Amino acid sequence: MFFAKILLLCTVCALASATPQGFGVLGGPKQLEGQELVESQKTLQASLDKLAAGEGPYYRISRILSASTQVVAGTNDSYSVELIDRTGATKVCDVDIWSRGWLPNGIRVTFRCPNEPELIKKHNA
Ligand SMILES: *[C@@H]1O[C@H](CO)[C@@H](O)[C@H](O)[C@H]1NC(C)=O
Repeated sequence: MFFAKILLLCTVCALASATPQGFGVLGGPKQLEGQELVESQKTLQASLDKLAAGEGPYYRISRILSASTQVVAGTNDSYSVELIDRTGATKVCDVDIWSRGWLPNGIRVTFRCPNEPELIKKHNA
């Protein structure tokens, strides 16, 4: 019984600590530099890897031109990035990663590439 209470308490704690992101301070986009830029590149890479392992698109990062992050309901990372497609061609695209990891399929990736319709893909965290 005691154990069950502790378990319940922990569940509540875990839920409480998982949600504040969604109710955090909302602010404008913040340009990323240095270590934060390195971390954001990992976020983008992880996302591209997940999509490539699924139904695509299939992109590799050539280089990130700029990146910014914003706290919304979750986190919204925006990239200007040179991508390499399967044919080895490069193109500069705007990519947004809207991350709400507590939702199923909570990562929403939007690709805006020149001469292509906007592409929106979702994947799990
Ligand atoms: C994320 O940021 C991009 C670029 O600033 C913006 O176009 C998009 O609407 C934002 N998405 C959300 C969910 O705030």
